[in-house]
Amino acid sequence: MKIAIVGCTGRLGSNIIKNVMRRDDVSLQYAIARRGNQYVGQSMSSVAGGNCQLEIIDDICKAVECDVFIDCTNAETFMRDSLPKYKQMNKPVVIATTAFSAQDLEKIKDLAEQLPVFMEGNFSVALHDFIDTLKFAVGRISEDTDIQIVEYHHNLKLDAPSGTALMIRDALVKANHRITEDMINISSVRGGNIFGEHEVIFANCKDEVTTYKHQVSSREAFADGAIEVAKWTVKQQCGLYNMDDFCADRG
Ligand SMILES: NC(=O)c1ccc[n+]([C@@H]2O[C@H](COP(=O)([O-])OP(=O)(O)OC[C@H]3O[C@@H](n4cnc5c(N)ncnc54)[C@H](OP(=O)(O)O)[C@@H]3O)[C@@H](O)[C@H]2O)c1
Repeated sequence: MKIAIVGCTGRLGSNIIKNVMRRDDVSLQYAIARRGNQYVGQSMSSVAGGNCQLEIIDDICKAVECDVFIDCTNAETFMRDSLPKYKQMNKPVVIATTAFSAQDLEKIKDLAEQLPVFMEGNFSVALHDFIDTLKFAVGRISEDTDIQIVEYHHNLKLDAPSGTALMIRDALVKANHRITEDMINISSVRGGNIFGEHEVIFANCKDEVTTYKHQVSSREAFADGAIEVAKWTVKQQCGLYNMDDFCADRG
């Protein structure tokens, strides 16, 4: 499977590329950066190390010979510049990018009527299983239990709360009809180079606190997840997919 990475100079994009280079079931066909980025025209090795001589380009529309795009940029550029190009290219798109508005989501749904689109704020399969555990737990909490989510990320993360924290809150609300969004407070901590931690605290009035925590210490799970998800997405019909769909197919 031939992959095009959009946002190849970024933290996630360059990690996915390093992961692709180590594998023989996928290949890197295009590395795409923002127009004006200093690395455009240079080889990918100047960003990711190693000896990848693929030249970094700056136009999605030049990526005619790939099977799938993986977008790791930001919501603003995705909506403004990239979405119309993906529509034009008519190839499956995996959206790693987060922080879309409700209005953006409608446009992404529209794109998914034309081609397979996979969108998820967190490609970690273990995180998906963590949320499944939380859904079970929240169904059993007593009425006097308060729920708090605390998320920790590096100081360069643009969005707060994280897409994953919002996803966890959504899952908790759906799993217990007594609970509404405003009953779950999310605290965001930004500091240093923390990769990503999500803590869910159930505290009741009988002096009990139960804490669930998922923590990553590198982007490996996201990079590996992005590639596995891309392999799965190219086999799907048009539509909008997420980790629930992917994990349901795991068996
Ligand atoms: N789904 C997941 O599992 C997962 C995991 C981690 C992160 N994320 C999300 O992925 C996104 C990227 O995260 P990150 O940490 O890698 O951010 P980052 O380091 O800031 O990387 C973003 C990259 O996108 C590039 N870019 C901006 N506009 C572009 C365009 N039009 N075409 C091509 N490249 C463009 C930027 O280039 P310039 O520097 O030149 O502007 C930058 O290199 C964020 O939304 C983040 O929340 C998702």
